[in-house]
Amino acid sequence: MEKGNQISSFTRDAPPAYGFDDPYTTPQGSSWHPRNWGKKTWIGVVLGAVVLIVVIIVGAVVGVRNNAYPSYSRLNYTLEDDYSGSTFFDNFDYFTGFDPAHGFVHYVDQPGSESLNLTFASANSAILRVDTTDTNATTGRKSARISSKKQYNSGLFIFDVLNSPYGCSTWPALWLYGDQDTWPLQGEIDVMEAVNLANTGNQMTLHTTEGCKMDRKRKQTGKTLAKDCWNQTDSNEGCGVQGSTATFGQEFNQNGGGVYATELRSDGIRMWFFPRNAIPADITAGTSPDPSTWGEALSDFPKTDCDISKHFTNQSIIANIDLCGDFAGQASVFSKGCSGTCSDFVAFQASSFQTAFWEFKSFKVYSAAT
Ligand SMILES: *[C@@H]1O[C@H](CO)[C@@H](O)[C@H](O)[C@H]1NC(C)=O
Ligand SMILES: *[C@@H]1O[C@H](CO)[C@@H](O)[C@H](O)[C@H]1NC(C)=O
Ligand SMILES: *[C@@H]1O[C@H](CO)[C@@H](O)[C@H](O)[C@H]1NC(C)=O
Ligand SMILES: *[C@@H]1O[C@H](CO)[C@@H](O)[C@H](O)[C@H]1NC(C)=O
Ligand SMILES: *[C@@H]1O[C@H](CO)[C@@H](O)[C@H](O)[C@H]1NC(C)=O
Repeated sequence: MEKGNQISSFTRDAPPAYGFDDPYTTPQGSSWHPRNWGKKTWIGVVLGAVVLIVVIIVGAVVGVRNNAYPSYSRLNYTLEDDYSGSTFFDNFDYFTGFDPAHGFVHYVDQPGSESLNLTFASANSAILRVDTTDTNATTGRKSARISSKKQYNSGLFIFDVLNSPYGCSTWPALWLYGDQDTWPLQGEIDVMEAVNLANTGNQMTLHTTEGCKMDRKRKQTGKTLAKDCWNQTDSNEGCGVQGSTATFGQEFNQNGGGVYATELRSDGIRMWFFPRNAIPADITAGTSPDPSTWGEALSDFPKTDCDISKHFTNQSIIANIDLCGDFAGQASVFSKGCSGTCSDFVAFQASSFQTAFWEFKSFKVYSAAT
């Protein structure tokens, strides 16, 4: 090396002592020619090649892994159930137990809800609301939570919503889920959910047992909030996707609401939102809606890293308006736009609950002909 260095300094015509030391040699003596490579060079070249091959293989594997995506092939949907009209609530059970989400709420049974007008169905719509009459609700305010008698393992759910609830202390949701006692064994699919002023956009979220993640390729226009659906991660945050401010609350209502279409199938779960003035003709026609013609969904939960058929079974349709509780009642959440304590607000601000009502035009469930 020492000699080579000395020579290579200025002596162009002298043969290099160690070929790779001299960049000025003629082609015949070129250090680039393998014939002139030393043992170290060969080791270096072989190692380099091995590293390159490993990088290429790993890159290809990661690339294939990240680009894996279900086919979501076209399905032929036909109407299975239609929840609408004055008999809307006949197809639901009323939940009356202690609120599992620890809300400052009393869920009232069917006769009580009807006499307090917390639930009211007409030919045109079904309303579910929070009581606005009790001015001293010191043990919690009356509300309703309904759960469809029928359960589903798959299907296309067309939720036509005219009005979404909002206002301080409210935690409304329209969702699908299985058995309360074994939750989250049968999975939970939150189609519409918001808290308090509901001015940050709808949150669509899955909650599952271990082994359901959304860290692969997705096709959605909504914003990913979290990727692990397992209830034991991040204090049961779930894997959520958020829509624009027009997808829930005052802005949603001012536009006349719209349709949330939720498709549950083994390939994945997708949810589309269509404001009132942009509902696809095949949804309005109601005979055979075809999601393959609707474009990108608002939220997409593909099966790639989550066995959808295993994690989501026996799903009932639930609609409720909780008050305070694990989500809306968190001090850091409530204080964003609301003042005082959540439970004081519930107890004493009866007239503020005028905006806390769901109004549904219809729920239609389509199943795929197989
Ligand atoms: C879709 O299903 C309906 C009812 O089963 C059937 O009459 C119709 O032919 C099917 N259409 C297609 C395109 O498969
Ligand atoms: C119940 O609510 C509906 C819808 O807001 C309303 O039209 C109806 O008059 C109410 N019924 C009573 C008895 O207040
Ligand atoms: C409100 O309810 C509490 C507890 O039931 C009672 O002590 C209080 O007197 C009531 N206040 C009014 C103004 O009715
Ligand atoms: C998650 O679900 C399990 C039941 O599978 C339950 O024991 C646990 O308390 C739940 N964790 C949270 C944070 O909800
Ligand atoms: C779903 O419900 C059916 C009928 O009640 C029951 O046999 C089945 O075990 C349930 N599935 C799960 C995963 O709990």
